Amino acid sequence: MKYVFILVLLIVAGAGGLMGLVVGIRWMNNMTQTPRIMPGERNFSMPAGVVPRGGELVVPKEQRDVAARQPNPIRPTPESVTIGRQHFQTFCSPCHGPEGKGGVTGPVATKFIPPPDLSNAELQRQRTDGYWHSYIVVGGAVMPSYGEALSSREAWDVVNFLRTLAAK
Ligand code: HEC
Repeated sequence: MKYVFILVLLIVAGAGGLMGLVVGIRWMNNMTQTPRIMPGERNFSMPAGVVPRGGELVVPKEQRDVAARQPNPIRPTPESVTIGRQHFQTFCSPCHGPEGKGGVTGPVATKFIPPPDLSNAELQRQRTDGYWHSYIVVGGAVMPSYGEALSSREAWDVVNFLRTLAAK
């Protein structure tokens, strides 16, 4: 019986010692074994959207009436509408639905506030291009802003795309 006790004690002490050793080893070469880049070893290109280039005055949403009077500088060419459609599918369709029909046509809208139908003729008539551009760039009451994801020009492209929804 005495030997069993000593054996158990030895096993416990051995396991403890082993764990202590592992901790010690990891402690010692913790930072040296990780991938790292030495200064000057590589050049990283700047991630898109972190440095403003060119840029435009952003009118805050409190002054939507000012923004609403801005004329649309981008002609609704097929190219512009195509770019607008692509951005709409990426950023807007989760809430507004693939056709901009609003309600619960977008997968996120079922868990969020159902957005309005952007193809509605009455709404299309009421809103200026500048108003919708401002909605995209600085956001709405609950709608998030897309000023960081889309340039001002791309936002106009999206507006041009939204205008094609009314025609259908
Ligand atoms: C997180 C969900 C969500 C996303 C993503 C989203 N919207 Fe909205 N949007 C809304 C909601 C909700 C409203 C209703 C107005 C409000 O409360 O902000 C709205 C309102 C609008 C309006 C205003 C309609 C009006 O004249 O009253 C426009 C235009 C619009 N969205 C366009 C877009 C575009 C373009 C995108 C993509 C760049 C987009 N939305 C992305 C939820 C969203």
